[in-house]
Amino acid sequence: MENVVIDFRDVSKVYKLYKNDQQRLLSVFSKKVSYKKKKAVDHVSFQVRRGEAVAIFGKNGAGKSTVLKMITGVAFPTEGTINVEGRVSALLELTSGFDPEFTGRENIYLKGRLSGLKEQEIKELEQEIVDFAEIGEYIDQPVRTYSSGMKARLGFAINVNIRPEILIVDEALSVGDVAFKDKCLEKVNEIMHKDGVTLLFVTHTTSMAQQFCSRGIVMKSGKIIFDDAIDPAIEAYEKSMRKK
Ligand SMILES: Nc1ncnc2c1ncn2[C@@H]1O[C@H](COP(=O)(O)OP(=O)(O)OP(=O)(O)O)[C@@H](O)[C@H]1O
Ligand SMILES: [Mg+2]
Repeated sequence: MENVVIDFRDVSKVYKLYKNDQQRLLSVFSKKVSYKKKKAVDHVSFQVRRGEAVAIFGKNGAGKSTVLKMITGVAFPTEGTINVEGRVSALLELTSGFDPEFTGRENIYLKGRLSGLKEQEIKELEQEIVDFAEIGEYIDQPVRTYSSGMKARLGFAINVNIRPEILIVDEALSVGDVAFKDKCLEKVNEIMHKDGVTLLFVTHTTSMAQQFCSRGIVMKSGKIIFDDAIDPAIEAYEKSMRKK
């Protein structure tokens, strides 16, 4: 297929569940430590083309976040292959990758570099990010002095402003207060209207998915049970919620 930017082929993810942290640590040194297995993602295949906007639905624990984490590279598949092309910006672990000892401004540069931007490009985006975050003089204080809301604001501001090619949103729009939430929605809308941006959106709010997405994937117990246009996908999702 042409223009495929996300390609999952027969991907599974198994988490190991240990009795406690001690057992988890011991397992590094000994193969004898017992654990239970949880298959969070079970032989999943799908492709997303450049410019598509896809909603992912499913009950709690269906495997949605695990799929997103494997796209961003925070989690690795146990089986199968994943191919992702383009700069990924994730509105899920907003504050991951922050160094608490660095100031907000320094963290903009840190995250920018990690995302593959050049120094000059970050410089051009810096003011936009600072303005968007609205955390005032705290931008020049170490991130460890921030409230959790302030951290999330800065994380969101950076992630949406670094010119993402693939935008991953995991219910993260509940960040901060109502005013900030509206601003975030508006920003996602604006990004989506730029050429060629690809969106993956996990939400339980079907009206929001309808607003942004033209395709919907429904997951159940780690598997994809439906993948088609957004309206039939919402129907399938609501139907699967009614069934036990
Ligand atoms: N780090 C982990 N260690 C062990 N099990 C995990 C881990 N992360 C997720 N799981 C398990 O994998 C399954 C899928 O989790 P996931 O977070 O992907 O679900 P989800 O569809 O995003 O759910 P929600 O709607 O609640 O966010 C769940 O059973 C969860 O308990
Ligand atoms: Mg989740």
